[in-house]
This record gives sequence, C-alpha cells and structure tokens, in this order.
Amino acid sequence: MSNPMTTPPHLWQARAHAKVNLHLGVGQAREDGFHELATVFQSLDVHDRVSYRWAEDTTVEVTGLHSAGVPASIDNLAWRAVELVAQRLMVPATGTLTMEKNIPAAGGMAGGSADAAAALLLANHALSTEFGREPVTEEMLFELAAELGSDVPFTLMGGTALGRGRGELLTPMLARGRYIWAIITNSEGLSTPTVFHKLDELRAAGRGSAPHLDTEAVGQALVSGNPRELAAAVHNDLQPAALSLRPDLRKILDTGEAAGALTGIVSGSGPTCAFLCEDEETAAEVVASVCADNRGTRGLVTTAPATGASLVDLS
Ligand code: C5P
Repeated sequence: MSNPMTTPPHLWQARAHAKVNLHLGVGQAREDGFHELATVFQSLDVHDRVSYRWAEDTTVEVTGLHSAGVPASIDNLAWRAVELVAQRLMVPATGTLTMEKNIPAAGGMAGGSADAAAALLLANHALSTEFGREPVTEEMLFELAAELGSDVPFTLMGGTALGRGRGELLTPMLARGRYIWAIITNSEGLSTPTVFHKLDELRAAGRGSAPHLDTEAVGQALVSGNPRELAAAVHNDLQPAALSLRPDLRKILDTGEAAGALTGIVSGSGPTCAFLCEDEETAAEVVASVCADNRGTRGLVTTAPATGASLVDLS
C-alpha cells in the first residue's frame, strides 16, 4: 500500500448512464423466480456522477436532484459493488463513495444498477492502484455485475444490446441514428417484483399478452436509423401489468402522444414513461404538456444511444 501521508488517495469519478428498454419481452417465470427475457437495451445520455476515493473509513453520500429515497449508506447497491471488487482483490472494503443522482430513482431506468456498474469500475481502478494489485479482469467485472442485478451488466457495457437470460446475457446490436426521448418520472414508485408478479397473474387469468420474445422488428428499425420506424417497433410486455397497477399512467401516455410524441411506452417496469420524439422541441412540449396535466410528474429530455459506465478524466 502507498503511504497515505505522502500520497493522498486519488479521487476517481465515473458517469453512470440510464437505460431504456426498446423491446421488453418477458417469458415464463423460472424456478429461481426470475423471468426469461428477450430485451433490447439502449443507454440514455442522462447520467449520475459517481466518485470513489479510498479511505480507512467508510462514507456513502447521495446528492443531486433525484436523491430522495436513495440509501446513503452501505445498503446502497453501489456500495455492495465496492465490496465485491475489494473481496476479489483481497483488500479492505472501505472508502468514500458519492453519487450525484440525475437519473430518477425507482423508475425503471436502471439508475441504481448504473451506479453499481460505475462503482465496480471505480473500485477496480482505485483499489488496484492504491494496493498495487492486478485489476479484476473485464470478464470478472461482468460476472460481478450479474451478481449485483439483472440490469447491472448492461449499464456497465452501454450502447445498444440484446439481453437474454434474466437480462445479463448481452450481445451488442448495430444501431444507427440518434434518438430523442422525453422522460416522465413519477413521485410515486412501482416495485419491480410486483410488476412481474402482476404480469404472471394476468397471464394466469388469460389476460396478459403472450411473451413477445422476437426482437427482430426493433433490430431492423435500429438499422434504419429512422425514429418513426423505431416508434412503430418498440414494445414492452410489462406495460399491461404496470398499467393495471397504476391506471394513472394511461393518461400520461395519452397526453404525451397527443402533445406530438411518435410513441410513448412504460420504461421497464415503470412508473417512468418514455416518449420517442422527432426533435428536441417536440420532446420539450411533451414534457411541458404531461407535467401540466399530471400531478407528481417531472420530465427531462435526453438522447440515445450513450455509453456504459465510463471513467471521467479529472486531471
Ligand atoms: O435482478 P434485479 O435485482 O434487478 O431484479 C429485481 C426483481 O425483479 C427480481 O427479484 C424479480 O422479482 C424481478 N425480475 C424478474 N425477472 C427478471 C428480472 C427481474 O422476475 N428477468
């Protein structure tokens, strides 16, 4: 270990990008409780800033516009990521981890997963440097990511990818064009397991849609680079379940489409709604119109695709 008296530990920072599911096909529940997925992820430009500095004590801080409800403690998934890397490197899991939250929390945008992916990267750089260890391999980082959660591997990788298994088996996809999204968040969250359960219930009652495990339409639209084609292809099997639990989301989707969005979908398990728009002006109008009409909503305009978790050069 370097001498902290003469060389203060370096501050490492990373961007942690949100995601949208352009296609979310949900198969049957497996024995382990997870559902088999066929999903197309795309990273969004909106991101949290996560920093980590090795120290002998442990501090977890959460700041930013969307910090409400995010644990500022070792219960945060991102701290668990630091612990997993420290365990692998066989060094003490301590230090200061800070998350500046710009991604709405508990909204189906993988904000917590993205922070954990960034923390894996940060802890790997910081701890291997501080303790003079060989860094954990990229392959191992992806294994640790899958251990942390179904969306963590994609938020580590970024770009556009097909996700199979419970979402952790990734294949990069070709995507042309730049897409503009109006994102509407909700002050009242939705629990992911509850939404998956609701879908099982609807299906058992013969009401949920059959699993859409074919991602071909979205794949072709992404190759065309045309937002209208993409709008016609996006799909979310969890949407009927999210709408059944939260009928208020229907009005949000209708208002956004009436304000000019090409299409609106529930993002992941919701309650965030994502509207694909032709241009930034329309996206701003969608945000203004939906937020004026629906209590507890907030909006932002962002673009896709973006990268995965990436280190920021602070020098
Ligand atoms: O992996 P993650 O922690 O994000 O999953 C949260 C919950 O969402 C799981 O416990 C499970 O109830 C549900 N889930 C699922 N099938 C998936 C991913 C998540 O049923 N493929």
